[in-house]
Amino acid sequence: MPMAFVNPALVGKVLAEDLYSDAGVLLLPRRTVLTAAHVNALRNQRITRVSIAGDLSEGNGEKISAQLLDKGGDRESAFCYLDAMEQTRRLFERVDLGQVPSLHEFCQAFHALAERTEERLGLFRSLYVLEGADSYTYRHSLNVGILCTLIARLLKWDEERVWLMGAAGFLHDIGKTRVPREILLKPGRLTDEEFAEMKRHTVYGYEILQQMEGGHETLAICALLHHERLDGSGYPEGRKDGQIPLECQVVAVADMFDAICSDRVYKQRTSPFEAARVLWKAACDGLLNIEIVSLFVHYIAQLYVGAKARLNSGEEVEVILIHRDEPMRPLIRRHGQFVDLRCHRQLSIEKMLG
Ligand SMILES: [Fe+2]
Repeated sequence: MPMAFVNPALVGKVLAEDLYSDAGVLLLPRRTVLTAAHVNALRNQRITRVSIAGDLSEGNGEKISAQLLDKGGDRESAFCYLDAMEQTRRLFERVDLGQVPSLHEFCQAFHALAERTEERLGLFRSLYVLEGADSYTYRHSLNVGILCTLIARLLKWDEERVWLMGAAGFLHDIGKTRVPREILLKPGRLTDEEFAEMKRHTVYGYEILQQMEGGHETLAICALLHHERLDGSGYPEGRKDGQIPLECQVVAVADMFDAICSDRVYKQRTSPFEAARVLWKAACDGLLNIEIVSLFVHYIAQLYVGAKARLNSGEEVEVILIHRDEPMRPLIRRHGQFVDLRCHRQLSIEKMLG
């Protein structure tokens, strides 16, 4: 776990482990978002170093790389992913400091990875076996960019629009750089004021992308409207149906899928099959575009044929066959026997293992 010195730069960072005094008294539980008062208290206790989570700091890159290799990824792909993450971190930090790097610089960070993922679908599969919430913002941006590229291809959009969608997905949450870290990394429920501030990342993103050298109106619009829902229940404007450009509807699907499949400071990830079920329900409830969700869910499920997974019963199984009518409930092999999950509705695929 990365260690950090106790100083004011720790404000907003998240404790990775419970912190005890020399006398064995619990000072702060893990997942505490550190405030200036906490830092002062730690100094008064003469604590000099603490373990933190939520950053691409020293040691974290190796952990992610090891997981990618362990789950069947090749060395070059693991390097490519880490390199993209590191470049993304640097670019986002510049935005954090009030600069706006050009679209060309962002594309340099993202496109090598996007191309590699299209060539090697094994890399895509390994993205959703990664554990830990470290570097979530950078990983989420890269993953949503990859997913948007994939959906644009499934929709048979032309090459220029596919490229634009990759960038739109990659940059959709750039406005979060302006949301205070205490809110962004808060493990518990947000207050109404905190949630209102969190929602503003859409407007901040629009403003940042409007200023970007070489930028494109579609990127700014996707940052602004990716939390809108077709029934009008989204934010920031509560737009409905045709008032939400199709590009934003694509980002909404990719964003929701990746958020469900990734570990966060406040929740553990679940499997792409469970995410597919949630997306399907959201589409049936009139929140997401059903055509996009249907294409996407069928395609994603097929990628996992042959993959190892764990059921909510704790058993390890293999995904054998995806059904056309219910792709989120495939045929699996459990202890050498075939089980159709459509007929065992109490069972679900909880986690992908590789
Ligand atoms: Fe967002």
